[in-house]
Amino acid sequence: MSQDQLEPFMRRCRARIESVLDRALPAADTEPKRLHAAMRYAVLGTGKRVRPVLAYAAADAAGVPWDKLDAPAAAIELIHAYSLTHDDLPALDDDDLRRGRPTCHKAFDEATAILAGDALQTLAFGVLAEDTRSDPAVRIRMAALLAEISGTAGMVGGQALDLASEGRQLDLAELKNVHRHKTGALIRASVNMAALASGALSGAQTDALEHYADCIGLAFQIQDDLLDVEGDTAVIGKASGADAAHDKATYPSLLGVAAAHAAAAELIDSALAALGHFDAGADPLRWIARYIVNRDH
Ligand code: IPE
Ligand code: IPE
Ligand code: MG
Ligand code: MG
Ligand code: MG
Repeated sequence: MSQDQLEPFMRRCRARIESVLDRALPAADTEPKRLHAAMRYAVLGTGKRVRPVLAYAAADAAGVPWDKLDAPAAAIELIHAYSLTHDDLPALDDDDLRRGRPTCHKAFDEATAILAGDALQTLAFGVLAEDTRSDPAVRIRMAALLAEISGTAGMVGGQALDLASEGRQLDLAELKNVHRHKTGALIRASVNMAALASGALSGAQTDALEHYADCIGLAFQIQDDLLDVEGDTAVIGKASGADAAHDKATYPSLLGVAAAHAAAAELIDSALAALGHFDAGADPLRWIARYIVNRDH
């Protein structure tokens, strides 16, 4: 097993999801053109596509063909792109830079960015509902999962907790809860979509994937918090120091930088240990776990 294999694996996943997303999004030359252009701007381009990469990697671990994950992976990435578009709005984090270019509301305008986010969210459920490659019963379970992890029990709930925490110091349990909701939820769903598509995993394997996804989801947001402190704007593609400027509750602000790195590393060890229930099919999940805390953007 070699970490070097991650790059080509990610390239394959990214190329695949890019074309699924391109086909799912409304064409830029159809009305309402400005809204469609904003949706395409928010989704296509330079995202790392971590969530689709995880969905395909989990498919490999579960022995599921990738075509069964195209729609769920695209749906999650659409929800993610909508969450970023709204996260950057003046009423939320008020950021001007995303993925190395102006945020959607800067490139277009606030109203268009709000509507683009709304439309990306409904498109996500449409993509999933219309996919004929999985059994209808499985599709309904996937849609229910997507609704749960996107809504108040997941990402949106986490965003509300994140905003409510501005200017307040949380304790570690509260901070974990924010991170597990705002970021962990979509990451857990990315892995769990493959488990739903398989339907043939043992209870122990399902639990192991749950544990893996929970650990890397939390570690992903810890690394995001660390990059806000330690990263360069030019490399991370968003303004560094934004969390401190908003007095956000983050791992480095609560524990310090060194302890935040240690917490993320411990989570990755725990995620990797859980994969003991899987053979070499789970190697891509192993590579991604390490990448999550080693990434520079
Ligand atoms: C950024 O997510 C927001 C968080 C949930 C931490 P990513 O770091 O996955 O952003 P992109 O999609 O690669 O731009
Ligand atoms: C965002 O967390 C989580 C979302 C649901 C979008 P952050 O606010 O830390 O993400 P960035 O740093 O702006 O990408
Ligand atoms: Mg935010
Ligand atoms: Mg933000
Ligand atoms: Mg951040």
